[in-house]
Amino acid sequence: EKGGYASFMLKEIAEQPKAVADTLLGRIDASGSLSLDELRIPDAELREVDKVVIVACGTAFHAGLIAKYAIEHWTRIPCEVELASEFRYRDPILAARTLVVAVSQSGETMDTLMALRHAREQGSKVLAICNTNGSTIPRESDAVLYTHAGPEVAVASTKAFLTQLVACYLVALYLGQVRGTKWGDEIHAVIRELAQIGGQVEQVLQTMEPVRALARSLADRDTVLFLGRHVGYPVALEGALKLKELAYMHAEGFAAGELKHGPIALIEEGVPVVVVVPSPRGRSVLHDKIVSNIQEVRARGARTIVIAEEGDEAVVPYADHLIRIPATPVLLQPLMATVPLQVFACELATARGNEVDQPRNLAKSVTVE
Ligand code: M6R
Repeated sequence: EKGGYASFMLKEIAEQPKAVADTLLGRIDASGSLSLDELRIPDAELREVDKVVIVACGTAFHAGLIAKYAIEHWTRIPCEVELASEFRYRDPILAARTLVVAVSQSGETMDTLMALRHAREQGSKVLAICNTNGSTIPRESDAVLYTHAGPEVAVASTKAFLTQLVACYLVALYLGQVRGTKWGDEIHAVIRELAQIGGQVEQVLQTMEPVRALARSLADRDTVLFLGRHVGYPVALEGALKLKELAYMHAEGFAAGELKHGPIALIEEGVPVVVVVPSPRGRSVLHDKIVSNIQEVRARGARTIVIAEEGDEAVVPYADHLIRIPATPVLLQPLMATVPLQVFACELATARGNEVDQPRNLAKSVTVE
């Protein structure tokens, strides 16, 4: 069943290029536009949406955090992202023109289900992004966009996450397309790039041996910190979550801009700090700021593990370990940057003797509140 891999997690990490390609299949037409008729929400209604609220848990929540950047940029519709477990308990503002997006691999997560029921009771439309055909969350939603990751067995979500990102980008781009925004050209360019993205994920997978060696060398550490900015911030959170659940280590993700507001006090000699560096193109201001952050933590003794795009030479002097990823449009970078973090957590957990497919205390789908 594991197809020759030592664990389902390794198999599922390796399946990501296909999962991503399958999730795009049939959704980009010959003219390079998106066709998402399966959504079953008429375009006229999508044009009326004045707020998007994403609800999800764990890794799916991180996909939602990334979606917010894409939705607000490409559609100019305000977007909130909320932990499903918090959502219905704070009397959220929901109306008929609010589109609620529930993201769930299993489609059975109770917190997410309760959040979507609450949203529907308030009269909002709910779109599910889900990996499991016919599960409860899509059945109870107004519309569904399935991710085509195939069954995910390992408790730690990997390929489902990448396909959730793809689905979120599709929703964002589609909303942009039907509403017509000033980003029309950019939307077309991104759709073209997205169509190629599986190949780039494969490229990342081919270069993971140094990441594995690095992970093994850190097996006796107590703490790993993760920093990112912009869409790299949720990637940092996801890297930290993977390490917690698999390696049972203290791991925390921070927005790099927050460092000086507290977390930098954690830096001491030898602490590994993983930094997700935004593209030097496009958001170059952020890129330069994060290079300064890398210098700051390194000056205080951190061992810096830097994930940066090919051709980004500015990071080289400050990276104790450099992990290269292909250059991609800024908003799509999480599809590249997350992969090394999955491999890192899986290898580190294995080196610590942990059972990666079945981490202690966790269940694949959390069907209680
Ligand atoms: O099935 P769901 O996507 O609704 O699950 C949500 C979380 O429970 C899940 O992503 C969890 O955080 C994973 N174990 C993370 O790897």
